[in-house]
Order: sequence, then C-alpha cells, then structure tokens
Amino acid sequence: MSAKRPDLSVRIGDVELSNPVIAASGTFGYGGEFSEIMDLSQLGGIVVKGLSIHVERGNAPPRIVETPGGMLNSIGLQNVGAEGFLEEKLPFLRRFNTAVIANIWGRTFDEYIAVAERLDGAKGLTALELNISCPNIKEGGINFGTDPKQTEQVTRAVREASSLPLWVKLTPGVTDIGELARAAEAGGADALSVINTLRGMTIDVPSRRPTLSTIFGGLSGPAILPIALYMVYETRRATNLPILGIGGIEGLDQALQFFILGANAVQVGTANFYDPMASIRLVEDLRDWCETQNMLSINELVGSLERD
Ligand SMILES: Cc1cc2nc3c(=O)[nH]c(=O)nc-3n(C[C@H](O)[C@H](O)[C@H](O)COP(=O)(O)O)c2cc1C
Repeated sequence: MSAKRPDLSVRIGDVELSNPVIAASGTFGYGGEFSEIMDLSQLGGIVVKGLSIHVERGNAPPRIVETPGGMLNSIGLQNVGAEGFLEEKLPFLRRFNTAVIANIWGRTFDEYIAVAERLDGAKGLTALELNISCPNIKEGGINFGTDPKQTEQVTRAVREASSLPLWVKLTPGVTDIGELARAAEAGGADALSVINTLRGMTIDVPSRRPTLSTIFGGLSGPAILPIALYMVYETRRATNLPILGIGGIEGLDQALQFFILGANAVQVGTANFYDPMASIRLVEDLRDWCETQNMLSINELVGSLERD
C-alpha cells in the first residue's frame, strides 16, 4: 500500500484552497479557453480578469510586446463588466471544484464600491481581489495603490460593501511596500497579493516611437522574479496577513522561493501564455517535492527562511 501523499491544502484567512497554485488575473481570462486543455478542478483557484462595474473595451493595439525575460502589456483592463461576468462567466466556472476569485478595479472609490456590491453574495464566488494599481481620476490620476491613505480608504470602502473575503493586490512601484501592506491591513484586508506588474517601456528604433500605444505598460514574467521575492520579504516583515506570492513564477523552483519567504500560496501569470500547463504541472511538482523532503504538508515550508 502506498504512503499517504503530502497535503497541499492551504488556508488564506477563512478560505481553504485544495492546493496553493492559483492562476493570476489577466493571464487566464475567465477560464474558458484553458478548460479545453486541462481540468480546472486541479487548480487551487482562478483569479479572473479584472472586473469593473461597466464593460471595458481596453486600449488600442499594440498593447503587448515581448521583452528580455518577460513582456509588457497595456491591455487597459478590458473586461466583460460585473453583470456580464455574473451572467456569462461565473455559471461556467461554478462547474469546477476550484476557488473563483474576482479581481476588481475602478477609477473612483464609488466605482470600486459599485462593483464590490454587485458581486457580493454571488453563488460560487470565493473572494475578491482588489486591484489598486489604478489611477484615481478624482485625485489627479495618482494610483490608489501608491498612497497609503488611499490604499486604506479603498480597502475599507470595499470591505464595507462586501461580505466576501478580501485580498488586496499591492503595487510594486512604491518606495516602501511594507507601509502599503500595513495600510491595506488597517483597511480590513484578509490577505495580500504581492505583486502586480511594474511599469516599463520600450522603443521601436526605426520609427523612434514607443512600442506600446499607451507609451508605457506593465512588465511581467521571469524578469520581475527577484523584485517580487524581495517585495514578499518586505511584506512578510510588515504584516502577518496571508500572502499570495506573484511574479515570474514558471515552475517549482520559483514557487518554493516564495513559500520559504512566507507566501501561503502562489499565482502563476505570464507563464500561462507560453506554457499553458505550467500551473497544473506546478501542483504535481510541489506534491512530489514535498514527498522527497518527507513533508506531510506544504505549510511546513511556509516562512522557513534561514538567516544567520
Ligand atoms: C496581459 C496581462 C493582464 C493582466 N491583467 C491584470 C488584471 O486585470 N488585474 C490585475 O490585478 N493584474 C493583472 N495582471 C497582473 C498579473 O496578474 C500578475 O500580477 C503579474 O503579471 C505578475 O505575475 P507574472 O510575472 O507571473 O505574470 C495582468 C498581467 C498580464 C501579463
């Protein structure tokens, strides 16, 4: 008889996930295309593309460009809107035994509140993930997520608008991410997703124009791994909230580094584009790795960083 396999289940506050591998927002759509090549029930969770209260068409092309070790995107938060998601996308996702997390965003406090209220109580929704890397058009376009006061306020506003567990996704473009982590915690966050994309740009030399129609965009992929790891390190020093580690994860080695630093789960983003099975394979690789280490649970690894 074979020995019991390691337990990969993790808790993110009140949310129990069957395993700690989640598809990151914007890189997995609403799960539909991926369901044709994999069993979505094998994933710990799926964070859907960022939802707004109204349908959003996104930015003009070119809005994606490959860069060394990564990519830049300026999709512009194109999405089906809260209503479209509830009617057309969520019923499909409910068929699978995986956590469904709605990533949400707005241009004003009221827009954040509106989308959170619309999604509150939706059957089959596990949690909200708050994308605060958005310009507040009422505050001169300053990103909510770069200002501790606005971070706390928008977190509190959504906390009051919804009874769903609330994960706040931190922006890396700040001097002290620990301060932002504490601000989100003060506002009532249940967990922190660390990190979103970093701002970057490239130039098309023959035309001397920015490659992206929006001039700059969000950098993601292997290129940002060391930055994401450092941000998780600082976030873990600042708070005891559960952390979802994100940034440059392609497979086992990168995921293990996030767990050692204290992340309780990980999200796979850009890798989904060039290796659609990356997240499913990561689940199996984590289980095998725990077995080789005689670990009964992945939680034994979390926060096991050694320092002399
Ligand atoms: C094309 C694309 C679209 C994205 N859309 C969203 C989004 O709607 N909301 C959000 O919070 N993050 C979004 N992200 C950020 C990812 O979820 C993730 O935080 C980031 O890409 C870093 O992880 P990675 O290096 O594994 O891609 C997007 C990323 C990419 C590449």
